[in-house]
Amino acid sequence: MLLDDAALERSSVVANNAMNRERPLKSYSRELGLDLLAAAPARWLDLCCGSGRALLEAAPLLPRTEIVGVDLVDHFLRAVHPPNLTLLTASVADWTPDAPFDLITCVHGLHYVGDKLGLLARVASWLSDDGRFVADLDVRSVRAPGRVSTRLREQGFEYDPRRRRISLTGRRDVRFPYRYLGADDKAGPNYTGQPAVDSFYE
Ligand SMILES: C[S@@+](CC[C@H](N)C(=O)[O-])C[C@H]1O[C@@H](n2cnc3c(N)ncnc32)[C@H](O)[C@@H]1O
Repeated sequence: MLLDDAALERSSVVANNAMNRERPLKSYSRELGLDLLAAAPARWLDLCCGSGRALLEAAPLLPRTEIVGVDLVDHFLRAVHPPNLTLLTASVADWTPDAPFDLITCVHGLHYVGDKLGLLARVASWLSDDGRFVADLDVRSVRAPGRVSTRLREQGFEYDPRRRRISLTGRRDVRFPYRYLGADDKAGPNYTGQPAVDSFYE
């Protein structure tokens, strides 16, 4: 049976304690293929930010960057939060920012999101004109007719199947020719070795 967002967010696969929510800034840069300190965006949004460790490290090193992290679970590190860092407890399935971002990242978070394509389309609309989005995505977890990587590229995304990395430059109006049906939290481990969520479309 496919799960809706509310059921998915209660699933032990999504809300479990075993997943790595503690990646440091160095791991973020490696995962994303991006020197985050050199990028020094004016506004940086990190979706599925986990404990916020990477953002807490980055904030004092990027004092002119406004950093926002969003996670479903309030497992944020209990540290003094620098004034340029905001950590929010919300689901990326329905949260929306009130201003564009120059950088949007999502490190090993899309694996747990139900409507992955819906989120990608919304993220594309949150970028500034020359903003950059980079995230981990295993395209095989998007269960839709046809070649999903082709549909992504048609909408301006770049997809690197070897690194399982998706990216986009510049705000876009993205439309996928699919309807979201629901999520399967019993898809089993993905390439990270952790159980992940498959997303179904017709
Ligand atoms: C593997 S952890 C990665 C955390 C962090 N990016 C890191 O690398 O340290 C995945 C994170 O996605 C979050 N997550 C899953 N579904 C979410 C949703 N619908 N909205 C926001 N966060 C979500 C989980 O709570 C978890 O903290």
